[in-house]
Amino acid sequence: MISHLKVANNKAEEAKAFLKDKGFLNEGYLPIKKDNSVLWPLNQDSVPFEGKIVICKGTVQNKKSRDYRINLDEKIRSIAPRSFDIFGDIAILRLPSDSEVYEKQIAEALLLSHKNIKTVCIDLGVHGEFRIRDLRVISGDNNFISVHKENGMKFEADISKVYFSPRLATERERLSSHVNNHENVLDAFAGVAPFSISMAMKGCKVTSLDSNPEAMNWALKNFNRNGIDEKHYSFFSSKFEDYDFGEQKFDRIILNNPTNCLPFLDKAMTLVAEMGMIHFYIICPKDGTFQLSEHLVEEFECIAKREVHAYSPSSSLFVFDIRRNLI
Ligand SMILES: C[S@@+](CC[C@H](N)C(=O)[O-])C[C@H]1O[C@@H](n2cnc3c(N)ncnc32)[C@H](O)[C@@H]1O
Repeated sequence: MISHLKVANNKAEEAKAFLKDKGFLNEGYLPIKKDNSVLWPLNQDSVPFEGKIVICKGTVQNKKSRDYRINLDEKIRSIAPRSFDIFGDIAILRLPSDSEVYEKQIAEALLLSHKNIKTVCIDLGVHGEFRIRDLRVISGDNNFISVHKENGMKFEADISKVYFSPRLATERERLSSHVNNHENVLDAFAGVAPFSISMAMKGCKVTSLDSNPEAMNWALKNFNRNGIDEKHYSFFSSKFEDYDFGEQKFDRIILNNPTNCLPFLDKAMTLVAEMGMIHFYIICPKDGTFQLSEHLVEEFECIAKREVHAYSPSSSLFVFDIRRNLI
């Protein structure tokens, strides 16, 4: 089941152009024509375009060109991954280590079917405090700078020097749909500021931190690129644990450092206003053995838990929505 935007026939082309331009159109599915309307398949739950959101079984796009593996010999096809990440015009693939001899052919097949991709690289994993991805180009320019469209925003970054995950687009959309404008938000592990900008777009005042100095350079460009007024954001190149917030309190805190987040929860709890929220991202076992309640002080309560995406066969990235109640 996926979300579709239902619009009248006379608005269909305008809607398509808008969804395509903003990166909202799910091109893995076909539009559905019904009565006098068209249902456009979406990459996310809602979009800022007039129409009705309808959740239904989509019609999978069977055009052979969508699955790039059709351009490969059968033997290589079974090794080539069906899905991959895209950042702007850069495709990022994970390949089994023994498939190096086929990687050129895989990259060429992908370039043939995805005309918007200019560079294909192999993901060698994310490492260190800055969560930087080791990448090796297999086809195209040795260039890791691109502009990525997401939920109507644009984020530019050098993904060999800063972290970015296109897989968090739905999370950013979800959080920004919860905020009230004028909320005071802290994005403690901001990267190139995709969460911060999603919130600032809704009228929040955002304080963003990241310990990677490269992140701040790209984040400032991105605030500017997305037309965020300077009074809506401040970015500090600092470790969260070292930053002195004085008496400041926040209505909402985003803790998006899922491989190392528990050590920061205590400090975050001291910074939340009454009835404020913490969105706490953590990689933990799928079997439910991680008990967040053991780490919360009295007035804090977990009000929702969501599996964001799988991380390994036995673990996933989860988000816990934690509220500070009135005592
Ligand atoms: C998983 S990334 C998330 C980035 C961003 N929220 C996003 O969605 O793209 C975690 C970020 O936290 C930063 N970081 C790691 N440890 C930190 C710390 N102690 N204080 C502040 N930032 C830190 C890293 O440099 C990295 O950019």
